[in-house]
Parts: sequence; structure tokens; C-alpha cells
Amino acid sequence: MRDQSHLQHSDEPAVHAARRARVADIVGRDGVAMLAATPERNRNNDVDYPYRPNSDFRYLTGFCEPEAIAVIAPGFEAGDYILFCRARNADQEVWIGRRAGPDGAMADYGADQAFAIDEFEDWIGRLLDGRCRVYLSFGTHPEFEQGVLDQLSGMRSQGRGGVPPREVVALDGLLHDMRLRKSEHEVALMRQAAATSARAHIAAMQAVRPGMYEYQLAATLHYTFENDGMHWAYPSIVGAGENACVLHYIENSAPMADGDLVLIDAGAEYRGYAGDITRTFPVNGRFSDAQRELYEIVLAANRAAIEAARPGEPMNAIHQAALKVLVAGLIDVGLLEGTVDEAIDAESYRAYFMHGTSHWLGMDVHDVGDYKVDGEWRLLEPGMALTVEPGLYVRGQDNPSSRFADIGIRVEDDIVITETGCDVLTVDVPKDVDEIEALMAKPYRSETP
Ligand code: GLY
Ligand code: MN
Ligand code: MN
Repeated sequence: MRDQSHLQHSDEPAVHAARRARVADIVGRDGVAMLAATPERNRNNDVDYPYRPNSDFRYLTGFCEPEAIAVIAPGFEAGDYILFCRARNADQEVWIGRRAGPDGAMADYGADQAFAIDEFEDWIGRLLDGRCRVYLSFGTHPEFEQGVLDQLSGMRSQGRGGVPPREVVALDGLLHDMRLRKSEHEVALMRQAAATSARAHIAAMQAVRPGMYEYQLAATLHYTFENDGMHWAYPSIVGAGENACVLHYIENSAPMADGDLVLIDAGAEYRGYAGDITRTFPVNGRFSDAQRELYEIVLAANRAAIEAARPGEPMNAIHQAALKVLVAGLIDVGLLEGTVDEAIDAESYRAYFMHGTSHWLGMDVHDVGDYKVDGEWRLLEPGMALTVEPGLYVRGQDNPSSRFADIGIRVEDDIVITETGCDVLTVDVPKDVDEIEALMAKPYRSETP
């Protein structure tokens, strides 16, 4: 193996080969699947964003360089799996970074045959010729996708030769169905992502002090991620006081005051798999009565939702379980009026709880897979991974005289459905009030050597 870095390359060609074999079975000898790695993106002038391929591409290939096209063409003369990638280039490799090149694609990434990306145009006609169906994804590399469609019409109408497929089939649907059910191998990777994410949250709970800035607390998280050789799976949310009521607040720019609650939603990515944890805790280490009161409602909702996560249950049973607890709590503390059923029917709770309770979790933090099948909620199956993340947000501007004004709380765990219930991957981070306060009372020891 040329490069063992888990930030860049998979060291598990057999896992990816098995996935491609499943795709090849579905595609069949009269079909062909083509998938491009998402293009690099410019950040500013000479600086690009660090490259991360689209998850479908990584799932199928383990190949993490840009400018790559994977083709699965069962029975094709040059081999079933062909990878087009950047050619080796001594100059570019000095300035930019190492490349596998076609030889590396065959030696390390399981390609039966590999060619330089520039040669794709020479091969596309032959790859499509005589196949009944071409499996394509749309939206990841529009130029590539349009190029394949142009080739099809060129073969049909402009006498480019060959017999083009008559059918274009969605490759993403097929891959997303596979990705929805995690293998043991994938769950093991997700456990690693969750474990480092959990340690980062624990470090943040111990490090926070009144007067610190949100970005300083974010630095504590990111130190833990990077010290474990990982990176964030999505930009970290660190919001204190009223900022906790902005769901995707990522400025992380404000000082945190004595008496604020701070909400952290942050997770690490390990070999392409995301952790996604939210914890909410007091900047000064002690929950006030009002904070504790609202927090206990969210925590009870989190627990009820986890309890409802069982195989055979419809996906939204989790949300319904959380919602009932949240709404009952909102009525108890006087933020909502009427009965639980009335508030749920009228959706009056949306002023305080405006998001869903769960999303699929995997290579994408909001992972792929349909939530409904034929209009019905999908039934949970062992191996499905998702978050459980109820929250309550009382914006001060809408509730100026409430004792809960400017309190935002979310408690988010990652779970995998098992044969009998679910496995919580994020149990390592405390979420009970007493446990949080006890942890925060312990001195913080930076992991810095
Ligand atoms: N971190 C984004 C979310 O929880 O959905
Ligand atoms: Mn989430
Ligand atoms: Mn989250």
C-alpha cells in the first residue's frame, strides 16, 4: 500500500471490491455504471478547499483523489472495473501532492484496468456500446454527467458509431439503498468517529469558562479531533446564550457569559464516517433552575426517542416519542397551552421545536436513503444508523419576559438499530445534569504534550 493515511486513502480494497461486486450484480452484463468524483472547489485565488470526494464515490472505490471516474462494466474487454484517474506527474507531485496514477489504481485500489483521466473520451463509446442501460448519478459532477448524455445522443443521431444504451437508470438510488444499511465494518468505523467526538465534547465541558469565546471552545474540540488524526464531519456549532437558538450557528464568534448555556453540535469524521453529537451545558458549570427545568424535558425526550428505536418500528416513531415528551413539557412549564394532542395537531410546538428528531447517519452526516417508501415511513432494520436529537429553543426576541428566554437546548446521540433495539454509539459523553456538573467540576487537563 502506498499511503496508509486514513485521512486520504482507504486501506480496505476488499471492502470496496465487495460493494462493487454487488453493484455489478445489479447492473448485469447488459448494463454499465459510471460515477465521477466530485470536482475540486476553489476557495480563493490559488487556494482550493481541502478535497473530499462525494461519499458515493468513496463508498464504491476508496479512492480519494479528484479527477477520477469509476466504471463498472461487467464483462467488458478491459475488465469489469475500470478507474480513470490523474496520470502521474513529477512536477505536480512536487508542488501539489502524490498521485496514485493508473498503476497505483490497479495495485492498491482493485481496478482491473486503469487509465489516465484524459483517456476517458477515447473509451466512453466502447464502454457504452451494446449495453442496454447506463447507470448514472446526477448532481455530483454536472459536466461529466452532461458529457455522458451528449455521448448517448451523439451515438444515436450523429453517427458516432456503436449502439448506445436506451435507458438511463439512477445509480444514486441503488447506492443509497446499500449505504442505508451499515455493515459491521461500517459500524466499527462509526464507533471510532463517535468515540473521538465524545472525547472532544468531554474536553469542551471541562475547558469552558465564563469569558471564553465560542471559537476557543471550538478549538478544544478540533484539537481532540485532529490529535486523533480526524477532522470535523461538518463545521462545528458552538453557540452560547441566544446563539444556541440558531440551529446551524457556525460563526462561533461571541464571548460566553456566566449564566449562559452553551450548545455544542460537533462530530469527527473517521475514514469517511461521521459522528454527530450535541450536548448543552452551563458555561459556569451549574445549571440554573430554569435551565435545568427545560433541560430535563429535552433529556427525557431524548431517552423516550431512543427507547422507541427498535427494528420493525416506522422511522417516525422516534420523532413521535420525542415530540410527545417535549410537548407535555412545554405545557407543564407554561410555554404552550391546551392538551398534548391539541398542540401536536396545531403544530404550536414549532415555535420551540422546529426540526426533526432524527436523520440517517453515515458517510454523510445527513446520510442518504429514503425516509419513506411508497409514501409510508420506512421500517427500521438492524444496521440502520441515525441520530436522536430533540431540542427546545426559546428565542428571547419572541419571548422577552419568559424565564426561559435565550435558552436553546439540544441533546443528540448516534444510534445503530440492532436485532432487539438500538446501540447508542455516543454513551461516553454524559448527558445527565448531575453527571455533567460533576464532570465540569473536575479540572481540565489539555491533551497537549
Ligand atoms: N449536525 C447537524 C445535525 O445535527 O443535523
Ligand atoms: Mn444531527
Ligand atoms: Mn448535530
